[in-house]
Amino acid sequence: PLPKKVKIVEVGPRDGLQNEKTIVPTETKIHLINMLSESGLPVIEATSFVSPKWVPQMADQVEVMKGICKKPGVSYPVLTPNLKGFQAAVKAGASEVAIFGAASELFSKKNINCSVDESLQRFDEVVTAAKAAGVPVRGYVSCVLGCPYEGKVAPAKVAHVAKRLYSMGCYEISLGDTTGVGTPGSMTEMLEAVCREVPVSALAVHCHDTYGQALANIFVALQMGVSVVDSSVAGLGGCPYAQGASGNVATEDVVYMLHGLGIQTGVDISKLIDAGAFICRTLNRKTNSKVAQATCKL
Ligand code: HMG
Ligand code: MG
Repeated sequence: PLPKKVKIVEVGPRDGLQNEKTIVPTETKIHLINMLSESGLPVIEATSFVSPKWVPQMADQVEVMKGICKKPGVSYPVLTPNLKGFQAAVKAGASEVAIFGAASELFSKKNINCSVDESLQRFDEVVTAAKAAGVPVRGYVSCVLGCPYEGKVAPAKVAHVAKRLYSMGCYEISLGDTTGVGTPGSMTEMLEAVCREVPVSALAVHCHDTYGQALANIFVALQMGVSVVDSSVAGLGGCPYAQGASGNVATEDVVYMLHGLGIQTGVDISKLIDAGAFICRTLNRKTNSKVAQATCKL
C-alpha cells in the first residue's frame, strides 16, 4: 500500500546550488528559499556549514540563514560535517542540522576528507552536541546505489552505515543515490537490506536523476513504505565530488506524480513552478523539470 501523505524535503538551495560554477548572489538564494516557503513545502534545506575552500558556493551560509523569512511550521535544516560546522550553524540560528556520511570509503575521503569510521566519530560529536542543544539531526548516506570512485556498493554496507547513524540518534536517514545510477531493481534490493536495520518510517530517499530512473526509483520506495522524498526545484544540482552526476529529481515532477497517486504533500504546484522559473531565469538556464516544461506550453 502506498503512503497517504509524503513529506518532501526540498534540497535545491543546498544540493542544487552547491554545484553552480558561478557564485549565486546571496539575495537570489534568499529569494528562492522564500518562494519555496510560500509553496507549502514542509522542509527546505537552506545551506551548508562546510569549508568555503571545499565548496565556495556555500560560503554565504550565515547571511542566507539570517536573511530568509522562516515560515512557522517549516524547517530549514543545514549540512554540518563536523562540530565546527554545527557550532557555526547554531550560532547562525539553525534549528535543525544534517550530517552526511557515505557507504563508500573513497567517496567519504573525497567528499569530507576522512574514512567512513572517522566520519562516524565526528558525527557522534555533532549528535551529542545537538542532543544537548535540543537540535534534531538528519543523517545522509551517500552512494547507496553506486559510487563514482568504487562502482558497485553492497546493500549490506549501506545498511551498516544507516544503522550506525540511526543508533547515534538521527531521527531520519536519507539514502542518497548520489550519481543516479540506481534502478528500481537495485533500489528494492538496497531498501530490503536497510529496512532490516532501520524502521522504514525513519527512511527517506534522495535520488539524483542522471540515468532518468529517479521517479521509478521513488515509486518503488513508496511501495515499500518510504514516505519521505528529497528533491530539488527545477532539478537543479549535483555533487561537486561526484563528477558528471546530474541534479536531484525535480520537485515539480515528484509532486505531480504524488498528487496523481492521490498522495498528499501540502505543496501548491503552481507556486513551486514559479519558484523553479525564478531560479532558472536568474541562472539563465532551462529547467530540468518535465512538468515545468509541459506547463510552460499550456
Ligand atoms: P578538512 O580540510 O579535512 O578539515 O575538511 P580540517 O578539519 O583539517 O580543516 C581544514 C580547514 O577547514 C581549516 O581552516 C578549518 O577551520 C576549516 P584553515 O585553518 O585551513 O583556514 N573547516 C571549516 N570551515 C568551515 N566550516 C566547517 C569547517 N570544518 C573545517 N564546518 C571538511 C573537512 C569536512 C570540512 C571538508 O571536507 C568539507 O567542508 N567538505 C564538504 C563537502 C561538501 O559539502 N560536499 C557536498 C555535500 S554532500 C552531498 O552533496 C551529498 C548529498 O546530497 C547526498 C547524496 O546525494 O548522496 C548530501
Ligand atoms: Mg545529493
